[in-house]
Amino acid sequence: MRRPIRIAVTGAAGSIASHLVFKVAAGEMFGKDQPVILQLIEIPQAMDALLGLAMELEDCAFPLLHTITLHDNVEEGFNNVHYALLIGATPRRPGMERKDLLQQNAAIFARQGKALNDYANRDVKALIVGNPANTNALVAARNAPDLSPSQFTTLTRLDQNRAIGILANHTGVNPKDIDGVVIWGNHSTTQFPDLHQATLYGNPAMPAIPMAWYTETYIPAIQKRGGAILEKRGVSSAPSAAQAIVDHMRDWALGTGPGQIVSMGIASDGSYGIAKGIYYSFPVRCNYGRYQIVQGFDLNEFQRERLKFTEAELLEEKAGIEHLLPKDTEARH
Ligand code: NAD
Ligand code: LMR
Repeated sequence: MRRPIRIAVTGAAGSIASHLVFKVAAGEMFGKDQPVILQLIEIPQAMDALLGLAMELEDCAFPLLHTITLHDNVEEGFNNVHYALLIGATPRRPGMERKDLLQQNAAIFARQGKALNDYANRDVKALIVGNPANTNALVAARNAPDLSPSQFTTLTRLDQNRAIGILANHTGVNPKDIDGVVIWGNHSTTQFPDLHQATLYGNPAMPAIPMAWYTETYIPAIQKRGGAILEKRGVSSAPSAAQAIVDHMRDWALGTGPGQIVSMGIASDGSYGIAKGIYYSFPVRCNYGRYQIVQGFDLNEFQRERLKFTEAELLEEKAGIEHLLPKDTEARH
């Protein structure tokens, strides 16, 4: 039997985490032979709810779940963790501007970056889910001087899964026979769901798809899917977000399938002309616990414009929280 790995989850009593922790404890993220220790973190006011969740986890008697620990602060909760799932964030309230949310959450993620730097395992892999996820990841990474920017990633797998699911329904092709769907940029309405490299049963997808449907129906549907779910359910997407987190972490830790391309928000290294110093979603492959950007796509004018449009939003977000980015970590990004 393997040694247990330590996984921290922030916002652990919230909607997404309430689905996620059961999947992790059942072995869906790291495999059916990998024991886990869950270090669950909440704000002090939510500790009762967290205790209730821990009781339900205990009641499942999961063989892989070695220990559950509960924490009301990240400094304690991140102790020695191998994986950190940063989900907790302040939700947007009525009357709140996007930039207000950015300020409040960036301050939370600055503290979390420092805590990962000071207390987590040196090889920790962190996934930022709390919105605005890409810029929160930048803040966390820049506040962790002893960790590499590549140890921080953000979630666009939900957007990728949405893009595949909706395409599968439209074309009648099973999701497993669709590959090469790419999400570029920010996890927001400026993201670019790109089908130019996508295949259906190994054949190029674009010739099989009417351009008008692609640009006028499909792209906006993916970009606005989060809002559409919020409007219908009254709460933001949670089960599908939990599934996407499982998919993202499993692929990052255990590797993508042969030839498979997935999308992850990562520190830009300048690939495809995207500014260094932002967390941007790229097509990647993963192997041996590391990701690599898939290079060499020959982008047309339509694609290049979309890549730049979502990049501009991320640069604007970055400008809004520049004061939370320590200067001494700038050169690494
Ligand atoms: P939720 O409000 O149900 O739960 C959030 C939890 O976080 C709450 O229990 C709250 O007490 C806790 N929390 C707040 N600040 C915290 C802190 N500093 N430390 C620890 N815990 C803290 O929200 P949810 O539906 O679970 O969504 C969580 C976040 O994920 C939101 O920001 C949401 O917008 C975002 N989200 C992102 C994606 C994505 O694809 N990137 C998808 C869905 C949701
Ligand atoms: C989503 O994509 O469902 C989340 O980021 C929630 C939102 O506000 O869109």
